[in-house]
Amino acid sequence: MAALARSVLVTGSNRGIGLELVRQLAASPRPPQHIFATCRDPGGPRGKALQELAAQHPNTVNLPSIRGAVRAVGSHLKDQGLNLLINNAGISSHATLLSLDSQEMLSVFATNAIGPLQEFLPLLEKAAKGSGQEGLSCSRAAIINVSTKLGSIGLCLGVHQAPMYPYRASKAAQNMVTRCLAVELQDKGILCTAIHPGWVKTDMGTEKVLGYLRTPSAPLTVEHSVRGILTVLASLSQDTSGAFLDWEGNSLPW
Ligand SMILES: NC(=O)c1ccc[n+]([C@@H]2O[C@H](COP(=O)([O-])OP(=O)(O)OC[C@H]3O[C@@H](n4cnc5c(N)ncnc54)[C@H](OP(=O)(O)O)[C@@H]3O)[C@@H](O)[C@H]2O)c1
Repeated sequence: MAALARSVLVTGSNRGIGLELVRQLAASPRPPQHIFATCRDPGGPRGKALQELAAQHPNTVNLPSIRGAVRAVGSHLKDQGLNLLINNAGISSHATLLSLDSQEMLSVFATNAIGPLQEFLPLLEKAAKGSGQEGLSCSRAAIINVSTKLGSIGLCLGVHQAPMYPYRASKAAQNMVTRCLAVELQDKGILCTAIHPGWVKTDMGTEKVLGYLRTPSAPLTVEHSVRGILTVLASLSQDTSGAFLDWEGNSLPW
């Protein structure tokens, strides 16, 4: 099987789904030539698992801030551009209707809905142009936004158990960004798709919600979720750019 992409960048890769994405990409039989793993504090204690992984895989580069990352990625890739950007970093917030405050809403929104998209666009455009490929795919140029079913306005799931207004609203906004990008970037050869990873046993997936520990309920291991996500990514094409899919490739309502 061909490599998913020649170069991949994963945000929020020091733990949870991001770390496992880097781990499975690096361990795959045909790994990407370049894996850029970004996190807030790559040299610090929170980046320890990622440092260990990068030490085992010479194709994995562990990067700090977004601006530094754009420069470093550009100089590593030279003329080739970045094929696949996985916007995985995210933060949850359990604010309810009564506890909600605008500052929290804005900071969750900045992390979840905006991310490092604009900064990497020139590198994605370069990859799309230089790929020699037709159509849309992760191996040519793609933006994958890691979203959540909780951000689906169509489903509007479990509001009483998990109101999470800032988290849900920011992910609904991220979903709109995904749809708009898919339309705007299609002619530039860049695919854009939102993926719900399932309810996963990570720090975020096992946080307390309204006093109840979610741990026993989160059904998916991070290994299982990420295996599914990577299988779905390899199958994406023109037909699924602008889609909202889960880790098994099922279509979700926006
Ligand atoms: N777990 C689930 O059940 C589930 C379900 C649906 C969707 N998701 C989505 O999946 C993605 C990954 O979630 P996870 O479960 O792996 O969460 P996690 O274990 O809590 O990890 C979150 C990652 O995002 C990073 N991050 C948080 N805020 C950031 C910021 N302001 N700037 C840069 N990085 C930041 C964290 O870095 P630090 O270590 O520095 O904080 C960490 O690397 C998220 O987008 C989440 O919304 C998860």
